[in-house]
Amino acid sequence: MPDFLLVLLAYMIGSVSTAVLVSKRFYGIDIREHGSGNAGATNTFRVLGKNAGVIVMAADILKGFLAVKLSLLSQYSWHPTPSVQFVNLQVILGIASVLGHIFPIWSGFRGGKGIATLFGMILGIQPLVAVSLVGVFLLMLLATRYVSLSSISASIAFPLLILFIFREPELSYKIFAIGTAFLVVLTHHKNIGRLLNGNESKVPIFKKRKM
Ligand code: G3P
Repeated sequence: MPDFLLVLLAYMIGSVSTAVLVSKRFYGIDIREHGSGNAGATNTFRVLGKNAGVIVMAADILKGFLAVKLSLLSQYSWHPTPSVQFVNLQVILGIASVLGHIFPIWSGFRGGKGIATLFGMILGIQPLVAVSLVGVFLLMLLATRYVSLSSISASIAFPLLILFIFREPELSYKIFAIGTAFLVVLTHHKNIGRLLNGNESKVPIFKKRKM
């Protein structure tokens, strides 16, 4: 399949707003009118509970993962440096799916913040980096109980890991990693405002047992 069609397909896969679908189809509400108003896994956990949250999170991760794997369908073998070009295409496909998730064509261009889909994309390209980022995310979550702050921290850790720990040679991937950190800060601007004002909601991880 031509690369431009793959990119379009990746965007359309990303555009399947699972939080909107699940909330409307199974709960009769639009998730964007509740909680933080975000069409993502965190808000689905918050508003609709564990089952819906797990489904949305898994589906959103899968979107990014599947999008980069579309590169396997690329028909071109004429790239001058195939392995490098292959990484380029994966990055472009992943970005297309993340943009689809944030600006979904099927849901009025009002989607989520891109975290789960971004994670699925990184998992599809560099699983070890993805696992390291989960570590950063969980450490921050345990320390602060803010999902948003944990997401932002992991996305800032992403270029740092790429540049200094994994020493990624591919330029497009380095640019992508730095761009990702900016994108996530942008999509979390309301969370940052709430964090600064002290009214961001926390995850109740350590529930006290009733005696
Ligand atoms: O992945 C999104 C998360 O970082 C924040 O979501 O619903 O608290 O705005 P939310």
